[in-house]
Amino acid sequence: MPLPDSFLQELKSRCDITDVVSSYVTLKRRGRNYIGLCPFHNEKTPSFNIYPENGSFYCFGCNVGGDVITFIRRIENLDYMEAVRLLAQRAGLTVPENAVDDSMANLRRRVLEVNRETARFYHTVLLSPQGKAGLDYFTRRGLSPSTIRHFGLGFAPEGRFELVNHLKKKGFSKEEMVQANVAFLSRNGYPVDRFTARAMFPIIDLRGNVVAFGGRILTNEKPKYINTSDTPVYHKSSGLFAMNFAKNENSDTLILAEGYMDVIALHQAGFRTAIASLGTALTAEQARIIARYAKEAIICYDSDEAGQKAASRAIPILRQAGLNVRVMTVPGNKDPDEFMRTYGKDGPARFKALIESSGNDVDYRLTKIRARCNLNTPDGRVQYVTQAAELLAGMDNPIEREVYASRLAEEIGIDKSAVLAQASKAARRSAKRVREQQFREQTREMSGANDPVNKEKQKHLRAANAEETILAYLFCHPDGADFCRERLKPEDFVTNFNRRVYHAVLSKMLYSASVSLADFSGELTQDEISAVARILARYSEIPPTREDAAACIRVIRAASGRPDSESARSADPQELSKYIESLRNQKK
Ligand code: CTP
Ligand code: MN
Repeated sequence: MPLPDSFLQELKSRCDITDVVSSYVTLKRRGRNYIGLCPFHNEKTPSFNIYPENGSFYCFGCNVGGDVITFIRRIENLDYMEAVRLLAQRAGLTVPENAVDDSMANLRRRVLEVNRETARFYHTVLLSPQGKAGLDYFTRRGLSPSTIRHFGLGFAPEGRFELVNHLKKKGFSKEEMVQANVAFLSRNGYPVDRFTARAMFPIIDLRGNVVAFGGRILTNEKPKYINTSDTPVYHKSSGLFAMNFAKNENSDTLILAEGYMDVIALHQAGFRTAIASLGTALTAEQARIIARYAKEAIICYDSDEAGQKAASRAIPILRQAGLNVRVMTVPGNKDPDEFMRTYGKDGPARFKALIESSGNDVDYRLTKIRARCNLNTPDGRVQYVTQAAELLAGMDNPIEREVYASRLAEEIGIDKSAVLAQASKAARRSAKRVREQQFREQTREMSGANDPVNKEKQKHLRAANAEETILAYLFCHPDGADFCRERLKPEDFVTNFNRRVYHAVLSKMLYSASVSLADFSGELTQDEISAVARILARYSEIPPTREDAAACIRVIRAASGRPDSESARSADPQELSKYIESLRNQKK
C-alpha cells in the first residue's frame, strides 16, 4: 500500500532538499540554486546541482539525480521505506505504519536469514571432516583457530546441492536462496550451490548482519574469487570487509588494505583497524563510510604495479571524503599478509614502524612524479614543476598549497610565485575540461543517444524533446496545469516514459497546488527519477514559458498525428491535406 499523499506532503515540506543535502555535501549558492562536489563520484570541479524550487538534485558528471528521498536512498544505501523512515525521524514525523508496504522489508529479512544460516553452514563444514581441505588451507596460510572463529571463515563443500539441501531443510525457498545469491537456478529451474570447494569469507555489515560472501579457490585455477553480486541487502560499492570490527576500535586512523587475507593477517597481528574494499576499486561511497568513523586512512596496498596504481586512484577519492591520507609501502614486493608471514613474531613491530614512517599522500605522489623526471636537466625540472603544479591545483586548502609551493620552489630553485601561477593555470585548464565534458554530455543527451530510460527518444527526437519541455514547464509553473490538460492528453505523447510521467504529474496536480520530484519517488524507479531530474536540471537556467509550452504542444500533437484544431485552420493547403490523410490513416 502506498504512503498517504498527506504524509508525503508533510514530509517533503519539512525535509528541505538543501538542508538535507548540506549535511553531506558542502554547498555553495549559485543564483537560485546550489552547487557542490558530487558525493556519488570523484570530482574536483563541482557538477552536483541542487534545485530547491522543484526539490531536485542532479549531477552532470555522473548523471545521477532525484529528489530528497532518492538522495537519502543513494547516500545511505537504503531502500525506499527505510529512506522515508530516516527522513521522518529527522523531521519528527511518525510514518503511518499500517500504510506501509512491507514486502521489500520482508524479502530483505529473509535474505539476511539465508545468509546467516549459510555462514553457519560453511563454518560448521570447515570444522568437520568434509572441510579438511579448507581448514588445511587456512592453517597453511598461518591463520590460528581463534582467527578462523573470529572471522567466521568457512568452507563450501564439493557437490552441487550441499548448501541448497541444508537451506531447504531449514525452510527457505529457492527464490530466497537465489535472491541471496548463494544459489542459482539450473536450466530446469532447480537451485544449485553457487560456491563449491572454496574457502569462504563472510562479509558482515555495520549492524552485524552477514550480507555477502567471498569464496577463494584453493588451487591456482581461475577465477580466484567468486563474490556475492548485488542483492537486496548488499551493494558491493559500499561494502567494506572487516569494518564491523574496525569501527569498534574507535581509532582516528583506519588501514585500507587490498584483500581479505591481508585484512585477516593484519587483525591477527594486532592491527584491528584494517579494512578492505571488496573486489572493486575504492568508491566514493566507501570513502564516505570510512570518513564517518575515522579522520585518516592509511593506504596499504600491494607494492606491485597494480597495487600502486590502485593507491594513486584511491588517494583523491579518500581526500574528497575529507580524510587525511597516508600511503605506506611494504618493502620487497610483498602484500601485508606475506609480510606478516615472512617476519613471524617480529612482523607486528616491523609493520608498526612502517606505519609510523609512512608519508602523506602529497609526499607520496611528489615522490612518484620526481622518480619520472630527470632533475639534472632543465627539461626534467620543468616537467617536474609542471606535473607537481597539477597536484597543487587539486588542493582545496590554500595553506597546504602554499606550503608545498614553497617546498617545490626551494627544491628546484625558482620563485614560489612561479609555482603558484603554474598551479592556477592548471586549475583553470581542468575546470575548462570539465565544462567541455559537461557540454558534450548535454549535447549527447539532447540527441537521445543511449538514453537509458526513454528508449524511444532517439527515434522520436523532436517530439520527445517537446514532451520534456512540457514536463519541465509543469514543474516550474504549476498554474499551467489546466492549460496543458485542456490541450494535450497523455495519449498524445509519443514516448511511453514521458507519457507516464505527464499522466502522473497531472494527476498529482488535481489535488495539490504544486509538485516536486519527491511526489514521485514512490512510483518511479531510481533510474527513472534520475531521468526526470535530468530533464528539470536541463531547463533550470531558462525555465520554459507558456509560449514555449504552446509551441511544444503543437509539435507533440503533430507528431502523434493529431494537430490541434487551431493549427489545422492556419495550416497551408498542402499541410491540411496531409492532416486529413493522417486522420484517415488513424481510422483504418
Ligand atoms: N578479488 C576478487 N576477484 C578476483 C581477484 C581479487 O574479488 N578474481 C578481490 C578480493 O577481494 C581479494 C582482493 O581483490 O581479496 C585482492 O586480490 P588479490 O591480491 O589477488 O588476492 P588476495 O586476497 O591477496 O588473495 P591471495 O593472497 O589468497 O592470493
Ligand atoms: Mn595476497
